[in-house]
Amino acid sequence: MLIDLQNAIKLLNNDEIVAVPTETVYGLAARFDRRNAIKKIYAAKERPLDHPLIVHIDSLKWVEVLAQSIPDIFIKLAEKFWPGPLTMVLSKSNVVDAMITASQDTVAIRMPKHQLFLELINKVNCPLVAPSANKFCKTSPTSANHVESAFLGALPVLDGGESDVGIESTILDLTHKDKIILLRPGVITTDEIESISKLKVEIDHKTKTKSAGMHSIHYRPNHPVILFENVDDIEKYIEENAKTYYVMSFEKVNLHNQLIIQMPNNPIDYARAVYRCWHNANQLNIDAILIQLPPKNIEWQGVIDRIYKAGFIYKN
Ligand code: TXA
Ligand code: MG
Repeated sequence: MLIDLQNAIKLLNNDEIVAVPTETVYGLAARFDRRNAIKKIYAAKERPLDHPLIVHIDSLKWVEVLAQSIPDIFIKLAEKFWPGPLTMVLSKSNVVDAMITASQDTVAIRMPKHQLFLELINKVNCPLVAPSANKFCKTSPTSANHVESAFLGALPVLDGGESDVGIESTILDLTHKDKIILLRPGVITTDEIESISKLKVEIDHKTKTKSAGMHSIHYRPNHPVILFENVDDIEKYIEENAKTYYVMSFEKVNLHNQLIIQMPNNPIDYARAVYRCWHNANQLNIDAILIQLPPKNIEWQGVIDRIYKAGFIYKN
């Protein structure tokens, strides 16, 4: 059910949850100070309670409320990348409920760029927790329509158009001295973070914190996703298997009776399109989604992460 800003404010203040637009993906929001509403988020998503939530703010004044201390490096990164698709994990203050942080002593904070979402946070005058507005392990929504289909119209949705970035924020752990840990890649790359922070960014492989993509299954569309190094292999696979496929490739594929989507060859446009393609494929009667892998350059790290976690690599 689509609702307007006034209604969204009213519902949130009434301990209800609301699907909200952000520039990355749509979120499922509650006030950060309403335990009952936060419980409803976990229930609606069917998400285990040990997966913590990001707290969204409209002003830096809230960081002082949410965090126990604010490292210099946080200020530098916030100045450069906020509002925007960057989430930073800090040590938490006492006001942040254990329901939000999965009983950890850290809190993840993001200042989003989407004007309507910022206005909502401002009018509610309270930080809003919001995970992506999808069922656990499924593809995040990048439009109001995607939320409506995933939850069969059961959630109130504030429609803010299509998400501009298209994949979830980059997440950094800033709680360690002299190093930054990347918990989830995104369109803001580790190269950019290193050049602003002058610190090494370590990729987190064995964290105990439950962070995004720690599951090997994630971001899944409803059909199997098979990944290929090149288009020749895709063509061969289709010829040998003779079924119906949704193909996402950079180059033209020479086959009839297949849905061929020519993908953008730069990572920003690709990120904007990739979940929309998967949601479109969900509506189709196909056997699998076949994807030509992007180049391995650092700018593609966010997109590559999502593609790898959604599918498996074809070995012939
Ligand atoms: O772009 C985004 O980040 C979107 C929009 C709605 O803001 N949100 C999003 O939320 O992707 P979610 O819940 O789907 O993914 C957030 C990830 C979770 O996997 C969670 O484990 C991690 O952030 N996270 C949250 N709090 C954390 C913390 N204190 N320490 C480590 N990881 C944390
Ligand atoms: Mg998510």
